[in-house]
This record gives sequence, C-alpha cells and structure tokens, in this order.
Amino acid sequence: MSHIVPLQIMNAVPVSRNGIFLCAERYICIVFMKQKIIITIDGWSSCGKSTLARQLARELGYVYIDSGAMYRAITLYFLRNHVDWTNAEAVHQALENIHLEFQSNHKTGQSEIYLNGENVEYVIRDLVVAEKVSEVAAIKEVREFAVRQQQQMGKNKGIVMDGRDIGTVVFPDAALKIFMTADKAVRVRRRFQELYEKNPNITMEEVRANLEMRDYIDSHREVSPLRKAEDALELDNSNLTIKEQLDIALQWARERTSDC
Ligand code: CDP
Repeated sequence: MSHIVPLQIMNAVPVSRNGIFLCAERYICIVFMKQKIIITIDGWSSCGKSTLARQLARELGYVYIDSGAMYRAITLYFLRNHVDWTNAEAVHQALENIHLEFQSNHKTGQSEIYLNGENVEYVIRDLVVAEKVSEVAAIKEVREFAVRQQQQMGKNKGIVMDGRDIGTVVFPDAALKIFMTADKAVRVRRRFQELYEKNPNITMEEVRANLEMRDYIDSHREVSPLRKAEDALELDNSNLTIKEQLDIALQWARERTSDC
C-alpha cells in the first residue's frame, strides 16, 4: 500500500510522475509521498540490464546501483596488485584495502564507481577485467563483501539495482524483480558495438567467447549462481527498443506503487 500524505490541496499542478505537485498559492505546496520500492534487475551478460536500470531509476527518481561495477572494480584491484585470488588469506587482506563508492557525475548525472578514491567507471569495462571478473565474483568472501554494501545501499528503498543475484540473494523481498534475457547473437552484437567504440582491435569472436564464459561461470558457481527468482517477471528484449522495454518496466513499477 502506498503511503499518501496530502498536506494541502490548492490549484495543484502536477510537475512530475513522482508525486510532487506545485501550487499557485505561496507557501502552499502538496507532496504526495509515494512509497518507494526496491527494483531488482538480474540476467545474462550484456542483455541491457544497466540501460534499463539507469532509465528506470531516472524516471522514478530512484538511485541506480550497478552491482557488476563493484565486482569489476574489485577485479581491477586484484589485477593491478597481483593478488592471488586462489589464496583465501590474500583475498581477505586485499579486501581490507578496498573502498568502493558510487558518485554522481555532475555532467552526465550518471552514477560512477570509485575505487579507493579513483574513478574507475571506464577502465573496468575493459575486456582485460571482463576476462577475470566472473572468477573473482565466484569467491565467497568477495561476494559477502559486495552484498553487505549493496544491502546497506538499499536500506531506504527507492533503488534500482542490477546484477546476477540481486532478486535472489541481495534483496529477496524486493517489490519488483525483473529477469532480463535476449538472444545470444543480439547480446554479442550489442556488446561488440559498445567495446569496438573504445577499441577497434576487438573482434566479435573475443566478445562472444567472453560472454559465453561469463554466462557459464555465473550460472554454475556454488555461491549465489545466476538464476531467475521464482517471483521475477521475465523481460526478453531481443526485439524490443530501449523505449519499449522501459515502458514495460515502468508499467510493472507503477502497478507496485499505488498512484495518488
Ligand atoms: O554488463 P554485464 O552484464 O556484461 O556484466 P556486469 O553487470 O558488469 O557484471 C560483470 C560480472 O560481475 C558478471 O559477469 C558476474 O560475474 C559478476 N556479477 C555478479 O557475480 N553478481 C552481480 N550481482 C553482478 C555481477
């Protein structure tokens, strides 16, 4: 049920879908406070989770958290510092030296990840990191480290988080869970285009191999494997435009937050 707090109603003009109204009278305004929910988006590699999550958060006035960026940043730290992640003690010590933070980019308005104070949002997308991230993300202590922080970020709700285990492990009680899929060929093409812009030497075959490897490791690992939560709604976007997928997800979100 939504929590509705009508303070005063006078010549109200709706200005946002988020329940905030402007009024003609000075000093009088009305704020309908809609209940904020947690929205989780899980799914296979490169199926557009972050695009949808970011847009959904913007439309709803929610915070967007890219949980994959956390695993990528941890992997980057391990690679740079030659951490042997098959050694539990080395992993434990390395994690003690890792501080992750999301900050909003003032120019783009998008949240970006910082590793020990350094903005690593772009470098973590590199294939060098993508080659190792699923191995690192399968380590129990790494997951506990990331999940603790993710749950903390969601404690006030009003959050859209995407990843692999968000609806199953991080927020099992989330009000809206989306599980995204798309044909493999479509996913490979999309990720290839994205990476090719930064590195024209990259090949479609490399991208396909990385995507298949990550899908396999992510769905077969012992700790929190990728799977669809029983109560998740499936969204196959192979043949959907970005606008169409957003409209579907927005509709689902509205059904779960009562309108004023
Ligand atoms: O963008 P893409 O879907 O390709 O991947 P990502 O969201 O950046 O995640 C990178 C990797 O982090 C995944 O392949 C998983 O191995 C891992 N990951 C995870 O284990 N759990 C999450 N909640 C998010 C990502």
